[in-house]
Amino acid sequence: MRLGWRQNSVVLIKKGAEASLYLETWHDRKVIMKRRLPKKYRIPELDNMIRSQRTTHEPHIMHKAKEAGVPTPTILMVDVADANIVMEFVEGKQVKEVLDAVSKEERLSLCRLIGKMIGRLHKNGIIHGDLTTSNMILTPYGKVVFVDFGLSERSVELEPKGVDLHLMKRTLNSTHYKHAKECFKAIMDGYAESVGEKETKQVTAKIREIEKRGRYVADRE
Ligand SMILES: Nc1ncnc2c1ncn2[C@@H]1O[C@H](COP(=O)(O)OP(=O)(O)O)[C@@H](O)[C@H]1O
Ligand SMILES: [Mg+2]
Repeated sequence: MRLGWRQNSVVLIKKGAEASLYLETWHDRKVIMKRRLPKKYRIPELDNMIRSQRTTHEPHIMHKAKEAGVPTPTILMVDVADANIVMEFVEGKQVKEVLDAVSKEERLSLCRLIGKMIGRLHKNGIIHGDLTTSNMILTPYGKVVFVDFGLSERSVELEPKGVDLHLMKRTLNSTHYKHAKECFKAIMDGYAESVGEKETKQVTAKIREIEKRGRYVADRE
């Protein structure tokens, strides 16, 4: 096979709408391969362009996040022509699986850490774009590694920061409703550690505004 791929033990982890994820062994390492498959409904030239663009964008922004002090999987290879990214496999559990299972004390410190990391991203002009507890991996060493930067963008504006955290809040309300309130509060405390109280107040006001807008739209429907 091309590029010395070994076909042994290739496991499809997730077949997403946009990309498929495989767990495999590459040069004796456990890696994740994220592959963007062609979309038949798009014009081929345009499809190639979109897939190449996303294939370079995601590792680039993951690297920026790492520079900002936010753990992300190390990128081992980017194959633009094949719309393929090979990255380090991060050992650990999705935050989604552990958040409700741990003690209150552990939960709050985990949320505080998550908030601190989101703050670092935002402070450095990185909007994650899909802040759910599935896209965070808690490692056995207590680090939180952020994955899935496919929808990320660069911005220092208040609006996208608010939208980013609003999605986090909605995820907590829907998936972790028992602890949603205390978790979001701890996240915002951690966020303030990174960006300061003043900016946190502004972002919090923005989140409220987005919530009101959402309700208004729901009322009209
Ligand atoms: N580098 C990685 N190491 C370990 N697990 C990963 C890694 N990247 C993704 N995952 C796991 O696979 C899941 C799906 O990957 P993700 O990049 O979020 O794809 P999708 O865009 O389909 O949501 C993640 O929620 C995470 O649990
Ligand atoms: Mg995901």
